Amino acid sequence: MNPIKPISPMNTLSMQQIKQFKNEITRFMMTYKFALDEMETRIEILQEEFQLLHDYNPIEHTKSRLKSPESIINKMYRKNCGALSFPNIRNHIKDIAGLRITCSFLSDIYRISDMLKKQTDLRILEEKDYISRPKPNGYRSLHLIIEVPVFMSDRQERVCVEVQIRTIAMDFWASLEHKIYYKYNKTVPSKLLDELKDAAHAAAALDKQMERLHNEIQEIRESEEEAEMNRIVIRNQEFPLPPALLQLLDGGTSGKAE
Ligand code: GTP
Ligand code: MG
Repeated sequence: MNPIKPISPMNTLSMQQIKQFKNEITRFMMTYKFALDEMETRIEILQEEFQLLHDYNPIEHTKSRLKSPESIINKMYRKNCGALSFPNIRNHIKDIAGLRITCSFLSDIYRISDMLKKQTDLRILEEKDYISRPKPNGYRSLHLIIEVPVFMSDRQERVCVEVQIRTIAMDFWASLEHKIYYKYNKTVPSKLLDELKDAAHAAAALDKQMERLHNEIQEIRESEEEAEMNRIVIRNQEFPLPPALLQLLDGGTSGKAE
């Protein structure tokens, strides 16, 4: 039986060269994996702390992905980025590591983005607010390109991560639009494009309505909590808490003239 011949250009390279090249790609891709791990941990911490402090979780779910070496090379060619070297790829392709954060409500998007901006060791390289200014097709999301410090055994690197923050409605729309775009091989019939635009408006209206409802519910919760503070319940009997008793809490000084 004939041995299977490797396809060119593999047969012009020695096994040793291929092995070394594979190692370099792996090392390059690993830094992006670590940056994603780092960002995911930060998001988990924010999520857990927020839940503890406010009894509310602003994040529905997160999803991360690494761009495949093939897509990286295609994008380098598509965008005319010049030579295929690691430093050149690092400079031009900012979405090798991608993190998508799906929130319940509009205000959560900006809350999460503000919390990330306050982390002093993260550098925000770019911000695109497609919520205040949606794309012509109706696409909405907040995009941040964030430089994350990654500490490895022999070096420290600052690695870019593309963070997309959106609501469930925005995510629903974007995934359908993406499917349609690829199903029609990027030439979508104009009737469908119009319908997608209508759907984007409907999704935006739904986000606004849900935000209003959410605020109303929060207000009700807060006023209930306030009412709860002013009473004690013993054997199903309700007693108002006299203000004089509350004064005991701060040593009986409150309300007294200095
Ligand atoms: P690329 O990074 O080359 O895609 O373009 P860009 O640098 O202009 O980036 P932009 O921030 O506009 O978009 C980056 C990513 O956002 C894309 O890879 C998609 O994941 C998402 N995105 C942007 N526009 C759309 C859109 O119209 N529809 C959908 N479904 N996703 C989009
Ligand atoms: Mg991009």
